[in-house]
Amino acid sequence: MIDLTALDREGAAALLRFYRDIGVETLVAESPFDRFAQSQAEFSQPKPTPPPQVERARPAPVVAPKPPAAPRTPMPVKPAAALSHDAATASAREQAASAQTLDELRERLAAFDGCALKNSATQLVFADGAPEARVMLIGEGPGADEDRIGRPFVGRAGQLLDKMLAAIGLDRTKVYIANVVPWRPPGNRTPTPQELALCLPFVRRQIELVAPDFLVLLGACAAQTVLDEKEGIMRLRGHWRDYACGGKTIRALPMLHPAYLLRAPLKKAEAWRDLRALKKAMDHAGSF
Ligand code: URA
Repeated sequence: MIDLTALDREGAAALLRFYRDIGVETLVAESPFDRFAQSQAEFSQPKPTPPPQVERARPAPVVAPKPPAAPRTPMPVKPAAALSHDAATASAREQAASAQTLDELRERLAAFDGCALKNSATQLVFADGAPEARVMLIGEGPGADEDRIGRPFVGRAGQLLDKMLAAIGLDRTKVYIANVVPWRPPGNRTPTPQELALCLPFVRRQIELVAPDFLVLLGACAAQTVLDEKEGIMRLRGHWRDYACGGKTIRALPMLHPAYLLRAPLKKAEAWRDLRALKKAMDHAGSF
C-alpha cells in the first residue's frame, strides 16, 4: 500500500504517470463497496417525492491526501440518480418525446441525470455523421477514445468501421452514427439492462428524427436492444428486420461489431457478406 500522504508533488505526478502507463483508467475505493445492494435499494424503494436534481458525482482523485489516522471507510458514493429506475425511465421517455430536433434531443440528453453512466463519463457522445443520411449505424457505447473526443467510433474499432463503410462507397458524410448508450461504461463493460432501458427512449427518438431508410445495428448489444431481441448476434446478423418507427418502417440489419472483428479477423468474411447485402439494398432503393 502506498502512503499517499508521504508523496510530494513530483512523487504524486510520477505515480499518476505510472497508473496511466499501466492502463489504470477507472478509480476505485480502498475498501469494497456493494453496488448490487445499492442498486437493489434504489430500484426496490422508489422515493415518494422526487428530490431536487443531484450534483454529478465525480470519481475522487487518485492522490487525494488522507489524514494519517483516518479510519478506512468506503469512498462516499452519491446515489446514481435521485429518481427510482421507473421514474427515471418515465422521465427519459418524456424528455425524448418532447425533443423536436436532434439538437433538442442532444440538449435533453445532456441534461438528463437519470442514468448513472453520466457520472463516470467525461462527456456525452451523441452522434457523428450526417443527420440527413439514409443509413444510420448504432453501436454499443463509447470507449476511451470516444469519451475523450466526444464522437462515436473514433478509436481502433471506428477506424475499421470507416474501412468497412469505404468498401461499399460510404463515409461519414453519408451515414449517421450513434450508440445505444451515449456515455462510456466504466472500463468498457457492457451496459446493464437498466442503463440500456434508460437510454432507449432517446435512441428511439434519435432514429425517428433521423428517419433513415436503413439501420445497421453493430453487435449484440445494439441489435438486441433496438430490436428487443434475445437471440445472439451470430444468429441475428445478416437477417433483415423491419423496425417500425414514427409511422415509417425502416429496414434494419444486425451486423458484427468492428471491435469483435478486430479480435476475430476470420469473421470479416461474414461482415463483408452483410455489407454487400446493405449495398445491394441501397442500390435497389435507388436513393444513393
Ligand atoms: N464501440 C462502440 O460500440 N461505439 C463506439 O462509439 C466506439 C466503440
